[in-house]
Amino acid sequence: MAGETAFGSGSDREYVLGTHDEEVERLGLQHQIWRSQSYALWERAGFRPGHRLLDLGCGPGFTTRDLARLVGRGGSVIAVDVSERFLARLRAWPPEPGAGPIEARVGDVRDLDLGEASVDGAHARWVMSYFPDPERAVAAVARALRPGGALALQEYVAYGSMGVSPPIRLMPRVVAAIEESWRARGGDPDVALALVPALSSHGLRVERTDPVARIARPGTLLWQWPDTFFRNYLPVLVDRGLLHEDERREFERDWRARSADPDSLFVAPMVLDVVARK
Ligand SMILES: C[S@@+](CC[C@H](N)C(=O)[O-])C[C@H]1O[C@@H](n2cnc3c(N)ncnc32)[C@H](O)[C@@H]1O
Repeated sequence: MAGETAFGSGSDREYVLGTHDEEVERLGLQHQIWRSQSYALWERAGFRPGHRLLDLGCGPGFTTRDLARLVGRGGSVIAVDVSERFLARLRAWPPEPGAGPIEARVGDVRDLDLGEASVDGAHARWVMSYFPDPERAVAAVARALRPGGALALQEYVAYGSMGVSPPIRLMPRVVAAIEESWRARGGDPDVALALVPALSSHGLRVERTDPVARIARPGTLLWQWPDTFFRNYLPVLVDRGLLHEDERREFERDWRARSADPDSLFVAPMVLDVVARK
């Protein structure tokens, strides 16, 4: 539904950070940084060659393509996203020898209508926090999973854990504005907390809850993650009236100073990796 998706614009349901090249590039960088974490989660979930897997809120398809490599020619991946433009990017990737076929479907993960027990596993990374009622998505996935199949989730659990050292005066203000932008559209930045009981109530046994805490130092690939996020998203917060332009400027100045100081540390918001089995 238009306007219901947090981070989606009111009219075209596109993701608010944009589906333009810069955002695709940012998601690609993010994937490079988090890829090994996702593979480890898929291993714990038991995703295997030959499986039929779902990639929920797949974006331009960075995880989708890795899942297609994992399942190989004998398996397949169904990738679902509300953004037509992201799915166009996914479809534009040349097919990879040895990888399983990918079916890209435009749609809301809460309205998934797959056959009962028709998939071996499902994955969602940074998706469930962007809309109200993620329980509906859990219910839809629970129906689609075969008995023994797993849902693997990577979602924030404590967004307010984000920080920097030496401290930046406006960091708490910026974190609060980001969280507010989520909530304003009905999303929940700490959605992992709500997902665990939702999984249990839909017949999925929560097998693993592994917190992921990461700390970056300037000059590393991990540092580039908040760096590109602040660059892309702070202007959006200003446009939406959640941050003043002078606050954005002060924050950016201080962030640049931290980026130039080799003794700075960035504490990434904590993620929870969850495996829930039917
Ligand atoms: C932060 S991006 C993550 C993309 C991808 N999962 C990854 O980790 O690279 C969030 C994605 O969720 C999608 N999304 C948001 N709400 C959705 C919904 N209700 N149904 C399907 N996709 C949705 C957005 O279009 C966007 O592609």
